[in-house]
Amino acid sequence: MSADLKGLILSGGAGTRLRPITHTSAKQLVPVANKPVLFYGIEALVEAGITEIGIIIAPATGDEIRHTAGDGSAFGARITYIEQAEPLGLAHAMLTAADFLADSPFVMYLGDNLLRDGIVDLVEAFRSQEPDALILLTPVDDPSSYGVAELDGERVVRLIEKPEDPPSDLALVGVYMFAPSIHQAAREIEPSPRGELEITDAIQKLIDGGSKVSAHRVKGWWKDTGRLEDMLEANRLVLEDLESSIDGELIDSEVDGRVVIAPGARLERTVVRGPAVIDADADLRDAYIGPYTSIGRGVRVNNSEIEHSIVLANSSISDLGSRMERSLLGRDVTITGGADRPRALQFLVGDHAEITMP
Ligand code: DAU
Repeated sequence: MSADLKGLILSGGAGTRLRPITHTSAKQLVPVANKPVLFYGIEALVEAGITEIGIIIAPATGDEIRHTAGDGSAFGARITYIEQAEPLGLAHAMLTAADFLADSPFVMYLGDNLLRDGIVDLVEAFRSQEPDALILLTPVDDPSSYGVAELDGERVVRLIEKPEDPPSDLALVGVYMFAPSIHQAAREIEPSPRGELEITDAIQKLIDGGSKVSAHRVKGWWKDTGRLEDMLEANRLVLEDLESSIDGELIDSEVDGRVVIAPGARLERTVVRGPAVIDADADLRDAYIGPYTSIGRGVRVNNSEIEHSIVLANSSISDLGSRMERSLLGRDVTITGGADRPRALQFLVGDHAEITMP
C-alpha cells in the first residue's frame, strides 16, 4: 500500500442546513477566509501526496464545482468528477465511485470538513499500519449531531450514526482511510432511519467481521461547516493563523493586527481590525471591518460596520446604522440601511437578496 492511494472528496448532498445560501450554490464552495471550503480538502490530500482525486458531485451543484475546482492542475492533482444522482448517503456516494476507486486504498474526505493540521501524519500511519479502516475521532459538545464511537481502551467496539443517547462524546471526523474491503461492507448494509447508506454502518460491518479498524484523535481543530455557526467558527479559526499582506490601496485608512488586503481592493476612511481578509476589487468607504471577517471579491461597504461575518462576492452594504455581526451574506446581496438605528443585525442571506431598512 503506497503510491496508489487515491482521494475521494464528497461534495454532493443537499446542504439543507445552510439554506438559503445552498439554494443557489454548493455548500462546499462557501468561502472560509475567502477560499472555498472544498479547496482546503483538495490541498490537504495533495499535501499528503495524494494527487489522484475523485470528487462526488450532485446534479444541481456539480457544474459549479467542476468549474471552480477545474481539472485539478491548479492544485497539482488530477480530478475526476463522479455524479451521484441522489444524496443517498456517504456509503452510497462511495459505492458510486467504485469504478474510479477500483482496488486502491483511499482517503475519503467530506467536502464540508476542515482539519487544521491536515492529514499527512494520518496517511503515514495508515500506510505503515495497514488497517482495513482508519477513523478520526474528536470530543464534541453535541455528539448526537455526529457519528459517535464507543471505545474499549483504544479499541473501537461500536460506531453509531447520530445516536439519541450517545455512548461517548467522541465524534467521527469526516476523514476516513480505507482498504478496498470497505466496498463489500458497504454493499451489505441497509439504509438507516434517515434513509441513507451510512459509512458509519459500513465501518461497523468491518468491526463485526473482525477487520482491523484503528482510531486516531485529531490533534488540531476540526470543523464540519454544515451550519451557519460552524461556518463562522471555521472562518474565525482559519483567520487566527493568518499572515498579513497589504496590497490594496489605503486612503486615510487604518489597519490593525493581521490583515490581508488583496491587490485591487480600495479602502477610504476605513478601519480594519484583524484578523480579517479583504478580497480583490472590494471598495470600502467610511467603514469599520472588525475581527474574524472575510470580505469577498468586489464587495462594497459604505458607512457601515461589520464584524465576525462572511460576505460573499459582489455584495453591497451601505448605511447600516448598526454593526452587523455573526452574519453570512450570499453573492450579489444588497443591504441598504435607513435613518433609524436598530441595536443589532444578524443575517443569513442567500444570493441576490435585496434588503432595505426604513
Ligand atoms: O462531519 C462529520 C460527520 O459527517 C460524521 O460525524 C458523520 O458520522 C457522517 O455521517 C457525516 O454526517 P453529516 O450528516 O454531517 O453528513 P452530510 O450529510 O453533511 O454530508 C457530508 C458531506 O458529504 C457533504 O459535503 C455532502 C456530501 N454528501 C452527503 C450525502 C448524504 C454526498 O456527497 N453524498 C451524499 O449522499
